[in-house]
Amino acid sequence: MSEHLWRSSVKDLEPFIPGQAAKDAKKQEKVSEVIRLATNENQLGPSPKAVEAMINAIQQAHFYPDLTCLELRSKLGELHGIDSENYVVANGADNIINLVIASYINPGDEVVYCTPTFSEYHKNTLLMGGVPVEVPTTKSHKFNLEAMLGAITEKTKIVIVCNPNNPTGTIVDEEELRAFFKRLPKHVVAVLDEAYGEFINLEKYSTGVEYIKEGFPVITIRTFSKLYGLAGMRVGYAMASQELIQPLQRVREPFACNRVAHAGALGALEDIDHKNKTLLENKREMEKLVKEFRSFGYDVEASHTNFLFVDMKRKTARIAEALASQGIIIRPAADWGYPTYARISIGTAEQNNKLVKALQEINAKSLHHI
Ligand SMILES: Cc1ncc(COP(=O)(O)O)c(C=O)c1O
Repeated sequence: MSEHLWRSSVKDLEPFIPGQAAKDAKKQEKVSEVIRLATNENQLGPSPKAVEAMINAIQQAHFYPDLTCLELRSKLGELHGIDSENYVVANGADNIINLVIASYINPGDEVVYCTPTFSEYHKNTLLMGGVPVEVPTTKSHKFNLEAMLGAITEKTKIVIVCNPNNPTGTIVDEEELRAFFKRLPKHVVAVLDEAYGEFINLEKYSTGVEYIKEGFPVITIRTFSKLYGLAGMRVGYAMASQELIQPLQRVREPFACNRVAHAGALGALEDIDHKNKTLLENKREMEKLVKEFRSFGYDVEASHTNFLFVDMKRKTARIAEALASQGIIIRPAADWGYPTYARISIGTAEQNNKLVKALQEINAKSLHHI
């Protein structure tokens, strides 16, 4: 084997484990329809305006895309009230996480965050020869900011707060977060991963946009994969002060956001109705599922995302298998250290009804087995 030729930090990496792909499920389970509730996609699909823009853009596929996505950066500038020079657009938020860590982490530097959380922080830190410092979340599955502050050393370069957190769906208390930023030592950069930030279900809650405007050393990450239904196109972005965004602008690969994706993101931003419909249906369906799940005796808190972190009170691997045999794919949480939990994306009303019915049948069957 040629493993001895690999860069040493690559040997420590594990391949990304995605939610089961719909195509595999179809093949394995021989079902005609697959309901994908494992990867937090927008089940309403992309906005028709985004689709139209993408179809038009594909006619120009022979031209390189705009190098820095100027048009999208300008639109984001209008949306957030943060200048277009303060963004980097790339191939999904995954790519942005990679850019942030590649921009700041020298071998031996520490990156502090809580677990369970999104796996890419761990992977990219290892890739750069950095040291992941993982602090458990609180009992209520929130990022433990006090414990994160306690874990900061002279070697800490980055702290990451995934807010709302994947897979738990929780957010931190706003005042705690502001106090956390105020207490960060000068040698530490804060990263706020707000991949689900637009789903935060509170009337008043400061996001990375406000913290950047207030002058905190925060790099905020967003994506078009969730709210805007463009997961298949791969558009994510970072925003921060000039000082913090500069290294990302140097590290990023040219043309990381392709022409069609760029057009799709612009079209999506124009379609306020589609965005509002997504938020409304997500809220309504989440409330419905929370009620149903509680009636099954599961523990679940309403989340600030488009998924729920559910304690089903017994090993979820088996439940996930039984659901998969009916074409419904959820994400068991054993990999995160929660064998009785699953992360379940919010589907359409019809999909959720099918999920509830399938779970009712599975629960009834397992009662007979006792
Ligand atoms: C917290 C978090 N950050 C980043 C990402 C990556 O998003 P993208 O599809 O833009 O790469 C995800 C995707 O699930 C996520 O959950």
